[in-house]
Amino acid sequence: MKAPVRVAVTGAAGQIGYSLLFRIASGEMLGKDQPVILQLLEIANEKAQQALQGVMMELEDCAFPLLAGMIGTDDPNVAFKDADYALLVGARPRGPGMERADLLQENAKIFTVQGKALNDVASRNVRVLVVGNPANTNAYIAMKSAPDLNPNNFTAMLRLDHNRALSQLAAKTGKAVTDIEKLTVWGNHSPTMYADYRFATIDGQSVKDMINNHEWNRDVFLPTVGKRGAAIIAARGLSSAASAANAAIDHMHDWALGTNGQWVTMGIPSDGSYGIPKDVMFGFPVTCENGEYKIVQGLEIDEFSRERINVTLNELEEERAGVAHLLG
Ligand code: NAI
Repeated sequence: MKAPVRVAVTGAAGQIGYSLLFRIASGEMLGKDQPVILQLLEIANEKAQQALQGVMMELEDCAFPLLAGMIGTDDPNVAFKDADYALLVGARPRGPGMERADLLQENAKIFTVQGKALNDVASRNVRVLVVGNPANTNAYIAMKSAPDLNPNNFTAMLRLDHNRALSQLAAKTGKAVTDIEKLTVWGNHSPTMYADYRFATIDGQSVKDMINNHEWNRDVFLPTVGKRGAAIIAARGLSSAASAANAAIDHMHDWALGTNGQWVTMGIPSDGSYGIPKDVMFGFPVTCENGEYKIVQGLEIDEFSRERINVTLNELEEERAGVAHLLG
C-alpha cells in the first residue's frame, strides 16, 4: 500500500463538501490504492464546526479502508499543514443586496489568507483546485498570495462546465458522453464561458459537421451550458452540489493520474497561449501526464470564437482589476 497523502478541503460542512468528502475517502479521486488523510477546514462558527463534526462522524461510520486519518479545524495553518492536495470549496456566497464588487472583496479576503497559509505550511508540491466562486479570480488571488509555491499548481474549476457541455452534445448527437473527444471550454467559470466543440470528434468524425447548425450552437447550446447553474438553482432551490463535487473529483483525478491523451478543461494561469495575457486564470484545453497539465496548442481561433473568448477574458480582466489593490 502507498503512503497516505494529505488532502485539505475547505467549506467541508457545506453542500459540495457533503458530496465530495465521501468520494475522496473512497478512493475515487486519487485511486483505490492511495490512502488519504483528510484535513477539513470550516469557519470559526459554532454551528459550522458542529456540522463539521457531524460530517466527520459519518465519514468514520463508512469505515473506508483508504481513510488513514482525519482532522477538523477552523485554522487554515492546521488544515493546509503538509497538504499534498487542497480543494478550496468554501467561499462567501452572495447575500441579499450584495453587489458583485462586494462579493469579490469579501472573497479576496478569504483567498489571500488561504493562499498565504498554503505558502507557509503546505507541501511544496501542493496541487490546489479552487471551486468557491468567483473561482477563477479566487484562484488567481490564492496564487498571488503564495509567492513561494509554483504558480502552475493553482487551478480553478471549469470541469463542471466541460461536463455540462459534454452531456448536451451527447444528447444532441445521440451518442454516449464517453464517445466525445476534444471538447473544451475557454475562459471564466461564469455565463460568459465559451464552450467550444469545433474540434470535437466522435469516432474520428467531426461533431461540428454532424450537428452542422451554427444557430443551434449560438442560440441553444452556448446559453444552455452558460446558464445551467441558474437553471439548477431555479429547479432545486439550491445551487449545483453533487455535480460540482463530481467535477472536482474529475479535475483532481485527471491532474494526478493523467488523461491518456484525452483533452479536459482546467482553469489555469495562462502562459500567454492563444493571446491570453500571462497569469490570467483561464479555462484551456489541456492533457495531463505524470501529474502535470499541458495546454493543447495549435488550435485555430476563428472570428466567432475570438469574439467569445474576448468577452470572457474581459470579464476576468475586470475582476482582476477589482482586486489588484489587495494584492500589493
Ligand atoms: P455552501 O454554502 O453549502 O457551503 C460552503 C461552506 O463553506 C459553508 O459551510 C461555509 O461555512 C464554508 N466557508 C465559508 N467561508 C469559509 C472559509 N473562509 N473557510 C472555510 N470554510 C468556509 O456552498 P456550496 O454549495 O458547498 O458551494 C461552495 C462554493 O462553490 C460556492 O462559492 C459556490 O458558488 C461554488 N460553486 C462553484 C462551482 C464551479 O463550477 N466552480 C459549481 C458550484 C458551486
